[in-house]
Amino acid sequence: MTSRPADAASDRALDFVLRSTDAVTRVEVRSGLLCEFGPLYHRTFDERPAVVITDEVVAGLHLGELADALRAAHVEPFVQVVPPGEVSKTFDQLGQVQDAMARRALGPNVVVVGLGGGVVCDLAGMVAATWIRGVELALVPTTLEACIDACIGGKAAVNLPAGKNLVGVFHPARLVGIDARCLKTLPSRDVRAGLAESIKHALLTDDGFLEWHEGSAGRVLSLDEATMDELIRRNLRIKARIVERDPWERTGERMLLNLGHTIGHAVEAACAFRLRHGECVAIGLAAAARLSAWASLCDRALVDRVDAVLTQYGLALSLAGFVEDRGAPPSQPASADGRAELPQASADGYAESSAAAHGSNAGRTGLPTAGHESAAGLTGLPAAGHESDAGRTGLPAAGHGSDARRTGLSAAVRPESVLDYCRRDKKALAGSLRFVLLEGVGRPVVRSDVPLELVERACRFAIEGD
Ligand SMILES: NC(=O)c1ccc[n+]([C@@H]2O[C@H](COP(=O)([O-])OP(=O)(O)OC[C@H]3O[C@@H](n4cnc5c(N)ncnc54)[C@H](O)[C@@H]3O)[C@@H](O)[C@H]2O)c1
Ligand SMILES: [Zn+2]
Repeated sequence: MTSRPADAASDRALDFVLRSTDAVTRVEVRSGLLCEFGPLYHRTFDERPAVVITDEVVAGLHLGELADALRAAHVEPFVQVVPPGEVSKTFDQLGQVQDAMARRALGPNVVVVGLGGGVVCDLAGMVAATWIRGVELALVPTTLEACIDACIGGKAAVNLPAGKNLVGVFHPARLVGIDARCLKTLPSRDVRAGLAESIKHALLTDDGFLEWHEGSAGRVLSLDEATMDELIRRNLRIKARIVERDPWERTGERMLLNLGHTIGHAVEAACAFRLRHGECVAIGLAAAARLSAWASLCDRALVDRVDAVLTQYGLALSLAGFVEDRGAPPSQPASADGRAELPQASADGYAESSAAAHGSNAGRTGLPTAGHESAAGLTGLPAAGHESDAGRTGLPAAGHGSDARRTGLSAAVRPESVLDYCRRDKKALAGSLRFVLLEGVGRPVVRSDVPLELVERACRFAIEGD
């Protein structure tokens, strides 16, 4: 994938080319784009039929505008609404959507349009890649995670009972339309979680993006439209630059995008997916910064800077930094031996265990329920729902690491179980763990020689704080 000069018709347009397949992804970022999606679609796909895939939440919020815009461009959308959350990233859901497409007698000229978060983008990508051996894909991402990550790069996947994202494809969208106004309906907790990925991208580059974050928190957190447009564009450029050097994930370059994710994924799994992915990435970034300093790759000033910017954006540095549940906080360790059940393999280096899922859609995933006990039971963590849990663990406590807070989330997860999950990461090579570390801002390095005692210390930090 390579960046092309901005489209002459609009300096807001970005074009990327996936070199290996010569597929072109045209990305447009513009507040208000949703109601102007018709002409954009028409310019790219003419009046070809569209199947719009969205989820129940997004359908109630943003589908009307998109559907009206398509109709105005003489395209009658065939809409498929799926349940929200990971439960929809399954073969079963894929089959249901394609059965409906077959009943509608849609042919190879159909365009699959995904309107929603990363789950919908992934499902739409799988539908498009496999319908009559591949049809065109357009994405309209509506979460920050999807706007800055899932919508470009060409990857799509569904989950198996054995693990998350195990069956996937490379099938880049031809058109990505991003309207930052959609983010205004997103719970602020999800906005902050998405910002962890933005901070990750900023740490991977030395183009002043970290300074930009440091100076823009107020405007970003209030979702100022121009600021969000700029944030999204800069993120997409950074991801595109990395993906263009390793479109098929073969040279290792794409591994850099895993900064903060080894320990982040492990925390996510050890917490039975009760936290947002981005919240765990923030913890992983704080841990990776420490690991870098302890391994003498960078000095402590970088750790302080990473801590400060994450805190500025309301992200906790460790599980101890989360405010306790308003309900009964977990006080038991994960299980009799203090461990949560280990997940199966995952294409992304981790797996969902039993009934819990990303976004806390407990019990609604396509992933298996543990035989006799749910993950919630195993970890002692409370069950959660997408909207209702904002007050539970979403707000980071001021500071971190006090004994009082260790009675909450941090008491329910043991550092050893985080280490176990790290070891199951697909990036672990024959027993040795690979980490993306920092020699400085914009100077990431992949290391597989980090001493175990430092890894253990980092896992302990991720749970207990400094
Ligand atoms: N393919 C890739 O490159 C890639 C990259 C990153 C993440 N992902 C995948 O993305 C998924 C996570 O994506 P996500 O964090 O967007 O979660 P998600 O798609 O589950 O969305 C989270 C929740 O937000 C709701 N929602 C979406 N847009 C909204 C809006 N504008 N207002 C209010 N609510 C809204 C959804 O209905 C859902 O309940 C994971 O499955 C992950 O594997 C894929
Ligand atoms: Zn991520």
